[in-house]
Amino acid sequence: MLAQTKQFRKDQLSQVNPPKFEKAEDMADLTYLNEASVLHNLKQRYYAKLIYTKDFKKDQLQQVNPPKYEKAEDMSNLTYLNDASVLHNLKQRYYAQLIYTYSGLFCVAINPYKRFPVYTGRCAKLYRGKRRNEVPPHIFAISDGAYVNMLTNSENQSMLITGESGAGKTENTKKVIAYFATVGASTKKEKDESSQKKGSLEDQVVQTNPVLEAFGNAKTVRNDNSSRFGKFIRIHFGPSGKLAGADIETYLLEKARVISQQTLERSYHIFYQMMSGSVKGLKDICLLSNDVTDYYFVSQGKTTIPNVDDGEECLLTDVRT
Ligand SMILES: Nc1ncnc2c1ncn2[C@@H]1O[C@H](COP(=O)(O)OP(=O)(O)OP(=O)(O)O)[C@@H](O)[C@H]1O
Ligand SMILES: [Mg+2]
Repeated sequence: MLAQTKQFRKDQLSQVNPPKFEKAEDMADLTYLNEASVLHNLKQRYYAKLIYTKDFKKDQLQQVNPPKYEKAEDMSNLTYLNDASVLHNLKQRYYAQLIYTYSGLFCVAINPYKRFPVYTGRCAKLYRGKRRNEVPPHIFAISDGAYVNMLTNSENQSMLITGESGAGKTENTKKVIAYFATVGASTKKEKDESSQKKGSLEDQVVQTNPVLEAFGNAKTVRNDNSSRFGKFIRIHFGPSGKLAGADIETYLLEKARVISQQTLERSYHIFYQMMSGSVKGLKDICLLSNDVTDYYFVSQGKTTIPNVDDGEECLLTDVRT
């Protein structure tokens, strides 16, 4: 056999790491992070059968909770309340389709990106007047708690809904409003014609959302229905707990979007809803063409959203129909 040596040019060589980095567990620690040293490290670990194992330093470890706390409904009860156990608990519950979990006074909601049948009328009834530990964690339980406190203490109640974009704030807010509309609904049916046309007060309160979202929500990279404004919703009840009205204050609308959009984003839904032509006569009044690209200000990015029918949405926005 002929032994061969091969000459490399200096610029083809990569720096070798000090021996203490041999079989390094975290390659980010390497002094020289080049292709050759990464491949060398992976190969050496593979030869030593270190394909999955990872050793952690003791101070990186966090205490594990006893098994009885698996999928705990209220994380404030955990013996060890650390990042890892909170995330583990939320993940295990999420895998079991349990998207709501308490953490003391807070209710953590995980976005399932799927419609679970947990917001039905039957579900809402289940939470009415129940104590917190009688029913599984739910946004309805929080809403009912606020409603009961309002009635028993005669005091205004407030609820803060927060999270990153796409977390589910808008969706959960709508569930809260729908819950109050259900529990605060007046029992007697309005007879006169004008109120029948407009729908009941409960319906009117719930129907404000499509309008608000048409003018204030847009597709972003992170959320196809991203609220580009903040809102403060006030719901009023009569002395017996019947719904009496609602008002909404909005603030900080993102105005730049009206004239320019990023490639993967869209302007406010209303522009594309109007272009859909689903509301008869609307395009004529506004002298609109049939091609959205005629309008540069709204067509710099996307002009459609997968699984969203702007025509159908427009009918919901148009409260006259
Ligand atoms: N509980 C839920 N059940 C089913 N789908 C949900 C739920 N919560 C959120 N989603 C889905 O995730 C999307 C984003 O949620 P949402 O619009 O509520 O986020 P957000 O927190 O208001 O974000 P932003 O800050 O961008 O307005 C929704 O359009 C919906 O498809
Ligand atoms: Mg939102």
